[in-house]
Amino acid sequence: MDTPVDVTRTTSWARLAELAGSLQPDLRRWFAEDPDRAARYTLDAADLHVDLSKNLLTDEVLDALVALAREVGLEQRRDAMLAGERINVTEGRAVLHTALRRPQGDSLVVDGEDVVAQVHAELAKVYAFAEKVRSGEWTGVTGKRIATVVNIGIGGSDLGPVMAYEALRPYVQDGLECRFISNIDPTDSAETVADLDPETTLVVVASKTFGTLETLTNARLVRSWLLDTLESRGIATDDAVARHFVAVSTALDKVADFGIDPDNAFGFWDWVGGRYSVDSAIGTSLVVAIGPERFAEFLAGFRAVDEHFATAPLDQNVPALMGLLNVFYTNHLGAQSHAVLPYAQYLHRFPAYLQQLTMESNGKGVRWDGSPVGTDTGEVFWGEPGTNGQHAFYQLIHQGTRLVPADFIAFAETAHPLRDGEHDVHELFLANFFAQTAALAFGKTAEEVRAEGTDEAVVPARVFTGNRPTTSIMARALTPSVLGQLIALYEHITFTQGVVWGIDSFDQWGVELGKKLAQELTPAVAGDEAALASTDSSTRGLISWYREHRS
Ligand code: F6P
Repeated sequence: MDTPVDVTRTTSWARLAELAGSLQPDLRRWFAEDPDRAARYTLDAADLHVDLSKNLLTDEVLDALVALAREVGLEQRRDAMLAGERINVTEGRAVLHTALRRPQGDSLVVDGEDVVAQVHAELAKVYAFAEKVRSGEWTGVTGKRIATVVNIGIGGSDLGPVMAYEALRPYVQDGLECRFISNIDPTDSAETVADLDPETTLVVVASKTFGTLETLTNARLVRSWLLDTLESRGIATDDAVARHFVAVSTALDKVADFGIDPDNAFGFWDWVGGRYSVDSAIGTSLVVAIGPERFAEFLAGFRAVDEHFATAPLDQNVPALMGLLNVFYTNHLGAQSHAVLPYAQYLHRFPAYLQQLTMESNGKGVRWDGSPVGTDTGEVFWGEPGTNGQHAFYQLIHQGTRLVPADFIAFAETAHPLRDGEHDVHELFLANFFAQTAALAFGKTAEEVRAEGTDEAVVPARVFTGNRPTTSIMARALTPSVLGQLIALYEHITFTQGVVWGIDSFDQWGVELGKKLAQELTPAVAGDEAALASTDSSTRGLISWYREHRS
């Protein structure tokens, strides 16, 4: 195992600390004195047009960030990841989600296997299955064509598929819809299937491990609902599981144990992390919804940004620079969170998706060799679509005491070019997008407030300090390719930050303790007094309260 560089001992870290200490952010002046600022700090990555100029970025900071990337060996680590080295050291695995989008005919041999050939063989199976469902050749037990695909999964086996399905709704085939069940709260499965017809429902059980309590419980609940409802209609159910259930997993043996025909199971590999898996067979529900051709465009989008990340020089490498800026804000300017604000209703699940991607990846306190990180890691990612957020939490971003760097995302075209009288509504929407980043950057001085005739007592409350950093990301339209590009962008931002901090961004040991305790507490919750007695007094009190108050 190679030892991670202790970033806090690098020359560039000291330089960044010095620059941060003397930084007097003044975006008004910086823009006024440098007419080229926007052009110099605006970069394209594939179809993404990314304006970094409203960040608290100077040429000195940029140079120091690039030097930092060199000192921690970002490029070498990136190349090691792309080559299939086992950089997920705590699990002893390669990290090869980028192989999922390499074109057919490429080759990457890892442990004697051509992983690109494996990827395309599995994709071909998923595509063939999806075509059968879409054409109506695949039917339920009573011969009716499938109208609803229910994806059952959690974490990466849910957030990616649901986010991408919501984002790409205009591309979904008429007559098909997807629904998603993730939570073990029985409300989730009950509400999701309540108005469904089992005869036209196809269930995709998506679980990398096929051992996740929530997913297997929900799969059994939905299987019972499906079989019971069919039986209540006098329909023979011998073939029902085979016709109505397929699975996606790396553990195909466990799929068979569940009763799903291995012929109806699609695989992937342990070198794909759950939160990096939407572009594997985990996206089966999406492939059915949008079709193989569109899914191939989605993969090509990822690939275009992978190529940018792999080849663009560091000072023009968008994911690297965005990741490095996040490090600057987190470690040198005290930011604790990062907002992602899509001006696109279809991206309403994108911040939730990014929460798992970024926080499960970089929420770590030790480096990949087990030593303590020695600095803050993993900022809290959050967000909601604009303009809803403007009327909720933007107040804090504009005038609060905390620094909240924010990414604004918007598209030149809309799927719904509606007019309200003389107004193009998409233009009203975009005007808000442009206005917010300008307001955050340039603020409003006391003189400007006074010039509006404001009562002096209220002037301080109406001043905007400005210098609130944002990155604007634009693309022509939210196509499958552009969605793939956006996801890959954030994957590589996350990777960059992980490398700087020297952490393994691909394990998630932090979710294990809660899972184990839940299993241990289950008998106590069900009434086992001995199990209850062995718990701490707070947990015991809460469980007892629950048992007294349930109906
Ligand atoms: O518990 C966390 C986690 O392992 C995530 O990393 C993963 O995406 C999720 O659970 C679901 O896991 P699986 O796909 O194996 O059911």
